[in-house]
Amino acid sequence: MARIAVIPGDGIGIDVTAEAVKVMKALAAARRIPLELVLFPHGAQHYLDTGVSFPDSVLDDIRQHYDAVFLGALGDPRIPDMSNARDILFGLRFGLDLFINFRPVKLLDERLSPLKGRGPADLDLVVFRENTEGHYVHMGGIFKKGTPDEIAINEDVNTRKGVERIIRAAFEYARDHGRPSLTMSDKSNALRFAHDLWQRTFIEVSREYPSIEPRHLYIDALAMQLIKNPGQFHVIVTCNLFGDIITDLGAALQGGLGMAASGNIHPGRVSMFEPVHGSAPKYAGKDTANPIGAILTAQMLLEQVGFAKEAKVIEEAVRAALQSGRATKDVGGSLGTRATGDAIALEVERLSA
Ligand code: NAD
Ligand code: IPM
Ligand code: MN
Repeated sequence: MARIAVIPGDGIGIDVTAEAVKVMKALAAARRIPLELVLFPHGAQHYLDTGVSFPDSVLDDIRQHYDAVFLGALGDPRIPDMSNARDILFGLRFGLDLFINFRPVKLLDERLSPLKGRGPADLDLVVFRENTEGHYVHMGGIFKKGTPDEIAINEDVNTRKGVERIIRAAFEYARDHGRPSLTMSDKSNALRFAHDLWQRTFIEVSREYPSIEPRHLYIDALAMQLIKNPGQFHVIVTCNLFGDIITDLGAALQGGLGMAASGNIHPGRVSMFEPVHGSAPKYAGKDTANPIGAILTAQMLLEQVGFAKEAKVIEEAVRAALQSGRATKDVGGSLGTRATGDAIALEVERLSA
């Protein structure tokens, strides 16, 4: 039995999670997968109603009694400082030590490519974003706030252990999935201390994986090359902040933020899966958000909890829906969020029969 904690969260997170759950249930029924989905209320509305954000007891419960977490998205304009969203998102990422942010960038349909003349053969890479360090550690502070002498500091924390484990995970993925190269991207020409550590660690670890070509690009050059010739990349490893930025760029290459899936993973432990996009408050509850990123995220979750073979049909079902225009407007279809989820769930049932 796989027990999944489902946190729809805020905004369109709620809309797309309903469709991901629909597809997971359809697959579980068709392939007799023992799956228990438990809804968690934590998000902006729950916080505003009860004052409860994301207590340690919830994290402990998840750690002890669940196999994975599905998260919709977080962020609500009624809580402008995002404190509640950060409690949940970083509570899970840091609290469960989910050091791999695994973000595939794959073009599923030629018509979705924003790049002239590029098709699915030119875009199939995976970004390994470091997920527990860097600028995200919340170390620093503000001094003399609101005065002309104000000082604001966010430290960029990089440890040998943290850098090594994400680089190693990326090499292992490349080796195990027949990907010929791994590109490490940093800004070591400017950030002489922290990113020198990335350089040295990458070179050292690369010697243990002689079958993988180690490549290096500064992050600005990587952004340019991703647009110019994305087909040259197979796996990319980078720090937390750069990984955040280039995976939005990657999402645009896939057909938009609504298409991109991600996993926050610590191999062998309870991991968390969420689409790359945010809560897009403007579109919340309007039945327009694209649920495909969330649905592909559900596939990734099911693969992680032991149902890789069964979950493969989800991508096939998504391709079929896209090809026949049974998808939302942002990806050339004519359906709403719910009807897109229905179409993909139906296709999953058909393909699993
Ligand atoms: P966003 O990803 O929510 O939306 C940006 C734009 O992308 C939208 O206006 C829309 O045009 C498009 N888009 C996003 N998801 C889509 C979908 N499923 N279907 C169709 N179009 C889609 O980013 P934002 O506007 O910068 O952030 C809104 C809130 O979400 C903020 O509070 C932000 O902090 C938060 N956020 C949360 C997460 C997360 O929970 N993992 C991720 C990113 C942003
Ligand atoms: C993401 C998001 C988050 C991040 C925000 C909401 C803090 O942009 O998951 O990509 O920066 O990690
Ligand atoms: Mn982001």
